Amino acid sequence: MTAAQRLADLRARIRHHEERYYVLNDPEISDAEFDALVAELQALEREHPDLVTPDSPTQRVGGRPVEGFAAVEHGVPMLSLDNTYDEGEVAAFDERLRRALADAGAEASAVEYVAELKIDGLSISLTYEDGGLVRGVTRGDGFRGEDVTSNVRTIRAIPMRLAEPVAGRIEIRGEVYLPRTAFDRINRERESREEPLFANPRNAAAGAMRNLDPREVSRRGLSAFMYQVIGRPGAVPPTQADTLEGLRRWGLPVEAHWARCRGVDEVLAYCERWREARHALPFDTDGVVVKLDDLALREKAGATTKFPRWAVAFKFPAEQATTRLLKIAVEVGRTGAVTPYAVLEPVRLSGSTISQATLHNEQEVARRDIREGDDVVIEKGGEVIPKVVKPVLSRRGADAAPWKMPETCPSCGSRLHRPEDEVVWRCVNTACPARLRRSLEHFASRRAMDIEGLGEALVDQVVRTGLVRDFGDLYGLTVGQIEALERMGPKSAENLVREIDGSRRLDPWRLLFGLGIRHVGERAAQALVGAFGSVDAIAAASVDALQAVEDIGPVVAASVREYFDEPRNRALVARLKAAGVRTAGPKAPAAAAPTGLSGRTFVLTGTLAGLTRDEATAAIEAAGGRVTGSVSRKTDYVVAGAEPGSKLEKARSLGVTVLDERDFLALLGRK
Ligand code: IVH
Repeated sequence: MTAAQRLADLRARIRHHEERYYVLNDPEISDAEFDALVAELQALEREHPDLVTPDSPTQRVGGRPVEGFAAVEHGVPMLSLDNTYDEGEVAAFDERLRRALADAGAEASAVEYVAELKIDGLSISLTYEDGGLVRGVTRGDGFRGEDVTSNVRTIRAIPMRLAEPVAGRIEIRGEVYLPRTAFDRINRERESREEPLFANPRNAAAGAMRNLDPREVSRRGLSAFMYQVIGRPGAVPPTQADTLEGLRRWGLPVEAHWARCRGVDEVLAYCERWREARHALPFDTDGVVVKLDDLALREKAGATTKFPRWAVAFKFPAEQATTRLLKIAVEVGRTGAVTPYAVLEPVRLSGSTISQATLHNEQEVARRDIREGDDVVIEKGGEVIPKVVKPVLSRRGADAAPWKMPETCPSCGSRLHRPEDEVVWRCVNTACPARLRRSLEHFASRRAMDIEGLGEALVDQVVRTGLVRDFGDLYGLTVGQIEALERMGPKSAENLVREIDGSRRLDPWRLLFGLGIRHVGERAAQALVGAFGSVDAIAAASVDALQAVEDIGPVVAASVREYFDEPRNRALVARLKAAGVRTAGPKAPAAAAPTGLSGRTFVLTGTLAGLTRDEATAAIEAAGGRVTGSVSRKTDYVVAGAEPGSKLEKARSLGVTVLDERDFLALLGRK
C-alpha cells in the first residue's frame, strides 16, 4: 500500500467510527481504539505533509481564532415556519394547503405528510462540493447569514466528506444543537468559574457558533440534524422521506423519529405521542414540523412572503406545574433595582426541582393578582428561572390580601424610589450592603477584574465585617485580615491577595466595565477606552463626545455622564488609581467582530416583560444597532412586546421582520 492509500484508508475508517459514535450513538470500538487511529493518521500526515487533504478528520479544528465571520447571501432564502399551537390550527393548515393545491390544479384529496421533531437549535446551511464540505452558513435574517465554516467543521456529526460520491455543488440544511449532557457540563463549568449561566441549550449553541475560536467551539460538543437538500433538479430526491433516507446514506445526521403520515389525523397522533415522550430524548425539541412529503406538490403550493405554504410548526405548550406560593420576597440588584420573586414549595418541573420563580416587577404581581399563600401555576419557558403564570383563584384562602411592594430597602432600610416612567423600584443608597455585595461580585467577575476566589460567600463576609465598603478597599486588604475570616486559611488568603494584586494590571476597559455603570457592557467599555485612552478622559468627556464614539448611543452616553457627574464616583476612580489600578492605555482591542446587529435599525413597540425600553435600547446600541421611532421599509426589525401599538400593523404590512421578546433576546445572545 502506498502512503496515499494508507491515508485514505485511515480517514475512511475514522469517518466510519465517527458516524457510529456521533450520528448513530452506537460505537463499535472503544474511545482508546478510536484515539489510536487518529494518532496514527496524525503521525502519517506529519511524515507526508503534502498529502494532507482539507477533508481529513485531523483538519476539523483549525490552528488559530478567526478574525470574524463574513456575510454570505443565501441563494435560496431560509424561510421560517408559521407556528400553530393546537389541533384546530394544524387542521386549518391542512385544509388551506389542500385548497391551494386544488387551486393549482393538483390532485389533493389524500395529502401525505412527513412529521419531524422540531429541534431547538439554530438553522444551518452546509455546502458540499464534489462530496467535500466547503462551507457552513448561519440562517441570519433568512437572506444573509454568516460564514461559520471553521466552527461547523468542528462538529463531529457533520462529515467532512459525504459517504457516497455526489458530483457538483449541493446545499444541505438542518439544525445545529447542543445535546443536554453537553449543556449541563458547560453550565457546571461556568458556575464554577462564576460566569453567567446559559438559559437553555439553544442559547449555548448560538453562543458557541458565534465564538471566533474553533478550538473552543470544538470543546462545546455541538451536534446537528439535517433535513433538507437544495440543488440541481435531479440531484434532489422527490419526496421528504427520500430526502431523509438519502441524507442518511450520505453519512449525514438525521433525527431518527420522523414518520410518514397519511392525512392530518396521523399528524395529530404523532404530535400527541411526542408531547410527553420528547422529555426522554437527549436533546431539546420545542414542537413538531409537519411537511408536505411530495416535493413537486410543494412547488405548486408555493410560499407567502414569510412562510412556505407546504409546512407548519406545531409548538408544544410550555410545561407547567402547580405549587404553593409561600412568600413574595424582594432582592436588590447591583444597580439598586428591587425586584420581587416567589418563594415556592419545592415542585418538580421539566426534570428539575423548582423553589423560586421570578415575578418581574410590582406591576406584574398586581396585573396577575398574585398573593402570598396562593396556589400558583408556574411555567418553564426558554429561561433558566421559571415564572409564575397565574394564581389558582378557586383555591384562594379568604384571608389572602393583595401584595404590597415594601417601601424601604430590605437590606439598608432606605426609602425606595421609582421614576415616573419606569416600572422598577430602586434603592438609591450607593452604600447599601446588598448593592455593594452585588457590585463587588460583578467587579471581581471573570469578565471584569477577574479576581478568582472572590465569590459570593467571601464577598458576603468582607461586606458584613466592614472590611470592604467600596472597590477601593479591596486593594488595601491584607493577608492577615482575610485569614481571620471564616473558612479561610493562610494559603487561600495569600492567593486572594495575589489575585487582587494581579487585577491592577488588567486592561482599563475591564475596570470601566467592572464599575457597573448602567448600560455599559463589555463592548461599550472597550469602545470607550479604545476611543479615549483612559478612564479619566472618559470621565471628562461631554455627552456629545461620548456619543461620537462608534457603537455608543445616546442612552449609554447619558448614563456614563451621569455616573461621572457624581463626585463620589470620581473620588472612587481616583482612589483606585492611587492604589495602582491601571486606568489608562494602551488602547483597548478593537471591538469584537460585528454581530448581526451592526448597522441594523430597530423599532420598539409594546411592553417587554424582562427589560425596560431604555435597557432594550442600550442593549441594541451596545451590539451595534440603532433604535428609531417609526417603522419604514428601511426598518430591519420591529420588537413587539405586550400590547403593541400600530407600529406592529405597519411592520406586518411592510413585511418587516417582527421579533417577540424571546427572539429578540436570542438575537442579542441573551437568556
Ligand atoms: S424545516 C422552510 N424541519 O425551525 C423552512 N425546520 O420555525 C424549513 N427547525 O428555521 C424548515 N427542526 O431552524 C425544519 N425538522 C425541522 C426542524 C426545523 C428545527 C427550525 C429551523 C426553522 C425553524 C422554523
